Amino acid sequence: MQPLPTMRWTDGSLRLLDQRRLPRNEVYIDCRDVDTLAEAIRTLAVRGAPAIGIAAAYGCALAALTTPSNPGFRKEFLRKLSVLEGTRPTAVNLFHCIDRQKVVYDNLGSGEDPAEALLRSAHLMREEDLDASRAMGRFGAELLKPGCSVLTHCNAGGLATAGLGTALAVIYEAWDRGMLKKVYADETRPLLQGSRLTSWELTRAGIPVDVLPDSAAASLLRSGRVDAVIVGSDRVAANGDAANKIGTYPIALAAAAHGVPFYVVAPLSTFDPGTARGEDIAIEQRGRGELAVSGGSVLLPEEAGIWNPAFDVTPASLITALICEKGVISSPDGRSVETMIRGKSDA
Ligand code: MRU
Repeated sequence: MQPLPTMRWTDGSLRLLDQRRLPRNEVYIDCRDVDTLAEAIRTLAVRGAPAIGIAAAYGCALAALTTPSNPGFRKEFLRKLSVLEGTRPTAVNLFHCIDRQKVVYDNLGSGEDPAEALLRSAHLMREEDLDASRAMGRFGAELLKPGCSVLTHCNAGGLATAGLGTALAVIYEAWDRGMLKKVYADETRPLLQGSRLTSWELTRAGIPVDVLPDSAAASLLRSGRVDAVIVGSDRVAANGDAANKIGTYPIALAAAAHGVPFYVVAPLSTFDPGTARGEDIAIEQRGRGELAVSGGSVLLPEEAGIWNPAFDVTPASLITALICEKGVISSPDGRSVETMIRGKSDA
């Protein structure tokens, strides 16, 4: 499987495949400044935890490139980074990648160009993400049985990363090994990352996919058609609780009720030892427009309120295993997650 052309740095600009326009139009947007990139992240032109983080890392290079090198440089540079930090609160990759770039900036050699150093570091993060995807694909495929069918939620594929995916990296690897029969993809309301993006990615790769309404997932699991659930994550807390797209938690409950293994695939850049438990994860609330309008028509009476969380938290007790680039954490808890993060072999 070749990486998808999700993002590319060309001539002082970050070129992004505009995911708001998929699957009908494959168009790119060029971000030449931080405000354009911040708007692209906020409106999900680029989305998915690892992709948001790497785009923001390139954003730090843009911040340096577009700031005049005078005594006010540091203040203005850091202000631009805070604009990026304010775009989306849940995916921890955003904050990890920007923090890494701050360290690069603080450790510049004398006479070293900040933009060049930050760009090198962003390229490195992109390469690390691709390597992590490949490793997670291999670890995850080992857990699946030949001839299996799997259910996934949202889009945790090449579009959500530097180009290969987390949950979908496992699916691509299982397909390459000839082990996979079919993928079921939840449509993922309200922004339809499953029906618009996951089905686009999988059909492009020649992998059979059936899309279902989110509300049909429990019945599907009960029917016995699914051998494993495989999803990504936006933030894994220190105790193994995992935030992911809204609608993931009910699937985990249904999977447990019907004895179907539930796997969460996430690189260590998505693990957040600084957040003790799932309840402590900041959950993004999104606007009324995503619920009130469909196909250009207003569907909600003006008097009706809304509750539109973009993510939910699946407790570690419902997760059969967490899969990261260093290996598999079965029945995750605080101790096994910490062991994996520290790189010990007995996780
Ligand atoms: O709101 P989104 O589309 O950015 O949410 C994305 C998800 O929830 C993905 O499942 C998650 O980032 C894992 S991606 C590899």
